[in-house]
Amino acid sequence: MHEDISTGVAASGKLEQLAALARRYANPEFSVTHGGRVRTIAAGHYTVTGLSRHIRLGEFVAHRSATGIHLGEVIRVEPDVAFVSPIEPGEPIGIHDTVIRKGAFRIAPNDSWCGRTINALGDPIDGHGPLSPGTIRRPISNSAPPSMTRSRVEKGFRTGVRAIDIFSPLCLGQRLGIFAGSGVGKSTLLSMLARADAFDKVVIALVGERGREVREFIEDTLGPNMAKAVAVVATSDESPMLRKMAPLSAMTIAEHFRDQGDNVLFIVDSVTRFAHAIREVATAAGEPPIARGYPASVFTELPKLLERAGPGEEGKGTITAIISILVDGDNHNDPIADSTRGILDGHIVLDRSLAEEGRYPPINPLASISRLARKAWTGDQEKLVSRLKTLIHRFEETRDLRLIGGYRLGSDPDLDMAIKQVPVIYEILKQTPHDRPAADAYADLAQALKNAMGGGAAMQGGVPANRRA
Ligand SMILES: Nc1ncnc2c1ncn2[C@@H]1O[C@H](COP(=O)(O)OP(=O)(O)OP(=O)(O)O)[C@@H](O)[C@H]1O
Ligand SMILES: [Mg+2]
Repeated sequence: MHEDISTGVAASGKLEQLAALARRYANPEFSVTHGGRVRTIAAGHYTVTGLSRHIRLGEFVAHRSATGIHLGEVIRVEPDVAFVSPIEPGEPIGIHDTVIRKGAFRIAPNDSWCGRTINALGDPIDGHGPLSPGTIRRPISNSAPPSMTRSRVEKGFRTGVRAIDIFSPLCLGQRLGIFAGSGVGKSTLLSMLARADAFDKVVIALVGERGREVREFIEDTLGPNMAKAVAVVATSDESPMLRKMAPLSAMTIAEHFRDQGDNVLFIVDSVTRFAHAIREVATAAGEPPIARGYPASVFTELPKLLERAGPGEEGKGTITAIISILVDGDNHNDPIADSTRGILDGHIVLDRSLAEEGRYPPINPLASISRLARKAWTGDQEKLVSRLKTLIHRFEETRDLRLIGGYRLGSDPDLDMAIKQVPVIYEILKQTPHDRPAADAYADLAQALKNAMGGGAAMQGGVPANRRA
């Protein structure tokens, strides 16, 4: 059954009201020609008759209730009914309420949004007054620039975190994941990376975090850097739709800055909670699970989001994406960890055992990889890191043997070297968010080794350690 809003509503004068609300949303795509009625209501979604022929999957609708206009996303379309997931939890929905088509959800980012905290809909939530919209309204589910027109990723930068700058250096436009179990140190490491001075702008999507952590992250850790940052927040108590939209809105803001030629750092904490939100919405739409409860749409949405990061078209800026991935029960092979690892250009692995030893940031240098490290290292640095990894590996594989007294110094010169130098390396890699970012991680390492070796040659094995990065 299809009800046309021009006949069903206009007579009662409701059309004018809806048109006024449409103007409030100021969306040029907004059309009041297609409307329908709520038919059934369930936890997590409602169905609408009369819209199926006019709307597309992923478009937005406006639902008019006793408390005002509420947005929802079309999550499934059948010949007779469309399934809609409401954006606000607890919105009062009644049978026969009016629902109108709104089209793609768009936001209009503006440079003046820097320093502000907004929600997934692009509305300010920091109490600092309204936001002025930019001139271009961008759909939040945009597609990535065509691959052949994008510039190449080749310029390294310093993060200021020694364990990353030495072992897994990064390039502008790279996409990096931080993988760890709960409470191991992902958010803290992200906040340290957000202070890297290589970026003109920082856009942070905080998804499914606790409300308390959001203020801490923004006020304490970002501090003065907040002036060049925009934070998009959807906390754990918000609807799955808002949690799903937050990284998309944040990416849209990052694209606005990138298109102006800025080098943008895009952070998502955490992508796992983004995936959980997609799962909740998809389950409400009746999509069957394919891997540990995750439906197929999770595995199409993740690459779609991450592919939008990277270098822009020639002459534009870059979006460097650093995202955190919660590995359930420290299982690094769960479906989300597995599928994101394949899309990313590198992964940093945090170990709970290192955090328990107080070795923060608890980055495991042997398990972490930057696939673009070669573009950031000099030839000498690459050789040095390879040598350092060999020493660390020797040190770790003989740990138990040495603990039970099964090794006598002098029997293996390589292991002797590892026993002397690896604790020094571990010590120099320690960093807290209160420490100053390292200006030159290699110089710090060389100095520490030199001091520990009593001023003699810092590194043996043919690699001078005092080369600048
Ligand atoms: N670099 C660091 N220096 C000192 N302490 C740290 C560091 N990183 C993490 N910690 C300690 O570990 C705790 C947990 O860190 P954090 O909140 O970053 O973990 P998380 O992996 O984001 O946790 P969750 O999974 O709950 O989001 C912090 O409160 C802090 O005490
Ligand atoms: Mg966290």
